[in-house]
Amino acid sequence: MTLHYYGHSCFGAKVSGKNLLFDPFISGNPGVQNIDIESITADYILLSHGHGDHMADAERIAKRNNALIISTYEIVSWFEKLGIKGIPMNTGGKIKLDFGTVKLVNAVHSSQLPDGSYAANPVGFCIFNSETSFYFAGDTALTMDMQLIPLLCPPLQFAILPVGDHFTMGYEDALIASDFIKCSKIIACHFNTFPPIEIDAQTVRAAFAQKGKHIIIPEINEQITI
Ligand code: NI
Ligand code: MN
Repeated sequence: MTLHYYGHSCFGAKVSGKNLLFDPFISGNPGVQNIDIESITADYILLSHGHGDHMADAERIAKRNNALIISTYEIVSWFEKLGIKGIPMNTGGKIKLDFGTVKLVNAVHSSQLPDGSYAANPVGFCIFNSETSFYFAGDTALTMDMQLIPLLCPPLQFAILPVGDHFTMGYEDALIASDFIKCSKIIACHFNTFPPIEIDAQTVRAAFAQKGKHIIIPEINEQITI
């Protein structure tokens, strides 16, 4: 499987022939160069919560692609007012779609839409089908609820976890999270975009290696083959 890292927490993933896009924040990312937002294809846009650094480009990309938003009821309802369709869900629920199953899991964070509208609780996503299973944590602290994921979903092939600290868990907590979710292949997100979330990649890689785990710290615009 190949993922495309668009920076911050934004990933594109092709799953069973469908283009999934997670948490699009590209135009406002100070580290992004040479990404043409108009060239990004998406069948589904999955939004973990309402903060601008996770959905600033969702409207534009959804409208051009006629993509469906997958998120909480409150966030999907907000996008419906902009003429964008979606699949309203809530924590703990799952749905089987044409590329596989999406399950919304708990994230410990906050959430608010850009105009101050209530955006409900933030979520993470587990995506699985007969070929793959992965977890996109969104913005979250380390939480004991992560221990439920191996009970609820097929064994994870990989997981995308925030490591930047300050607004989410840092790498030390992500290391514990990888134990909780029983997954040793981690892709880092939510780092280096702004000064408070800068990381030292070498330190992070060494900490994971010491525990026999592998963390990929992607470069913006990198294709990650997993
Ligand atoms: Ni956030
Ligand atoms: Mn964030």
